[in-house]
Amino acid sequence: MKKSYRQFVGKNRYNLFNAIALAGICLLFSVTVIGQQAKGGKKISSDLFGLFFEDINYSADGGLYAELVQNRSFEYNPTERSEWNPFSYWEYISPGFSYGKISVETTAPVHPNNPHYIVLDIEHVGHEAKFIGESGVGLKNSGFDGMVVKAGEKYNFSLFARQLSDSPIELSVSLQNPKGKVMASGSVLTASKNWQKYTTTLTATASNDTASLVILAKTNGQLALDMISLFPEKTFKNRTNGLRTDLAQMLADMKPRFVRFPGGCLVHGDGLGNMYRWKNTIGPVQERKEQRNIWGYHQTAGMGYYEFFQFCEDIGAKPLPVLPAAVSCQNSGGTWQVGGTGQKALPMDEMQDYIQEVLDLIEWANGPVTSDWGAKRAAAGHPAPFNLQYVGIGNEDKITPEFEERFRMISNVVKDKHPEITIVGTAGPFHSGEDFDKGWKIACDLKIPVVDEHYYTDPKWFISNQYRYDKYDRAKGEVYLGEYASWGNKMRNAISEAAYMTSLERNGDVVRMASYAPLLAKKNFTQWKTDMIFFDNVTICPTPNYFVQKMFSVNQGDYYFDKVIAKDDKDLNLASSCVQDSKTGDIILKLVNYNETAKPMKVNLNRFGKMATDAEQTVLAGNPDDENTFTNTKNIVPASTVVKIKKTFDYSAPAMSLTVIRINTKN
Ligand code: AHR
Repeated sequence: MKKSYRQFVGKNRYNLFNAIALAGICLLFSVTVIGQQAKGGKKISSDLFGLFFEDINYSADGGLYAELVQNRSFEYNPTERSEWNPFSYWEYISPGFSYGKISVETTAPVHPNNPHYIVLDIEHVGHEAKFIGESGVGLKNSGFDGMVVKAGEKYNFSLFARQLSDSPIELSVSLQNPKGKVMASGSVLTASKNWQKYTTTLTATASNDTASLVILAKTNGQLALDMISLFPEKTFKNRTNGLRTDLAQMLADMKPRFVRFPGGCLVHGDGLGNMYRWKNTIGPVQERKEQRNIWGYHQTAGMGYYEFFQFCEDIGAKPLPVLPAAVSCQNSGGTWQVGGTGQKALPMDEMQDYIQEVLDLIEWANGPVTSDWGAKRAAAGHPAPFNLQYVGIGNEDKITPEFEERFRMISNVVKDKHPEITIVGTAGPFHSGEDFDKGWKIACDLKIPVVDEHYYTDPKWFISNQYRYDKYDRAKGEVYLGEYASWGNKMRNAISEAAYMTSLERNGDVVRMASYAPLLAKKNFTQWKTDMIFFDNVTICPTPNYFVQKMFSVNQGDYYFDKVIAKDDKDLNLASSCVQDSKTGDIILKLVNYNETAKPMKVNLNRFGKMATDAEQTVLAGNPDDENTFTNTKNIVPASTVVKIKKTFDYSAPAMSLTVIRINTKN
């Protein structure tokens, strides 16, 4: 970093604003702190560890988003996969010697954003006495590799139908196991020649992990169908259009301070037409604009901005939406293969509208219900503001003159109209280099308060760069380490990241936020090999990296203390940190050993006042190559015990380990 572009902070209004906010927070804490707060600590970010969610690896559709039907809106198409079409993942069925016809139509859709639908022509519903089972003409969908159905649980079915013939048409709806045994059933009767939503609740009498949804028309006639949907009644916090409980809970358990969404490269998109436009993702799901996911599948936008904000609120995390800087991904069109020159920029005559789109997001999130966009939030079910504080502009973009011009235009207007918003800028896809330097330079020129750095590299890099942020000039903007990982999900990777994370805490006065990437990955549907949490429809396989992230995230502090843990400082494989959480007064020690043998450390807590003699100690340890697999998801898990603590004590850090010791200072 060159000194010339590091000199603005301290003068800008955000720091003033933050200082006032901080003073308010400190005042609040001074009356709410229930433990002892030690003197001499360095104030560090209270938003340090959070999550980065991107719909990569089927993280949303087929993953966290609890919709069980795949291609519910008949919008799959060959631009996503050459073999896909609007009927993909559906099967036409006519059991019981029935017959009819099916076609995909576009002439009178539910909504122009959702142009394709199915027309079912039921010519004959069989009534053969010899046929065992249910006759009819209809459709079957097996979801994303089968649907998980649990005995006793309820499932909310819905569809949009439009009668094309005169009489009402009865549709039977069932969940069936792969042998065709009915596990739950219900029915709906059409009643309109206009599009109308019909619903029924199915209660499962048996369990199966690879069930299918079967819809059979029982009356001769013709009807149009769209948005055929099935959700478990139990979603995270019982939200409608909600999230898968087990996966959402895994994330909630991390107690992240923020969630960055919806990407990643997904944000700036594969060409301008593929940029993520937040307005397309709110409102009734049948009106949202679906699109090709940059990672090679289909994005329903069912998990859209409203759901992201609601999820953040539900888990107590600050939302950090990232908006494109009006340029597409530099790797658009697969140009990463030739060095990536595929960036396209929005034409200048579209920029005013685009900037308004950014401003509208802030109004949608924070505006009163009487504002245009605040009213839309309220109509969706959330009259209270979402308290948006951070807005990201750009995702590791190639720093071209086109990018710079647009980034300046957007950020200047946001700063001007919304000084309460903290803008997060971007500094390219690597830890150093041309885009990194140019991104920081622009950020410094424009007084952008937080800059998003990304780097994926090997464990050795993380070990040998633990002093990267110690050298950062505090007069620059703060850092958001928005994406990082050490290319692997073995213990050596997780522990190298743990060592690095102690350095993020130590430098929590300049590193405001950090999030590992990517977060979720569905087994057999991955585009990125190393991720934090793997899952299939039934099982969740947390990596050692997940446990490291969780151990730091649930043990965040807002004051950092040095010289509490003594170790061999020449050994870079050893790392440690000590923070205090001013809300609880707890002192939290983190001790990391990346060596393959145990190593001694000495803890001296004399600077702290009265403390409990019992402490909670959590250890994650293993061999460098240890990992979790779907056949052994618990090979590596942290172990917690209560240990006796003295003011000074020796600790033998196990080989390849992270230890967290949490000490209560309540009187
Ligand atoms: O995390 C996966 C991808 O890595 C993100 O989409 C992108 O920002 C980065 O290149």
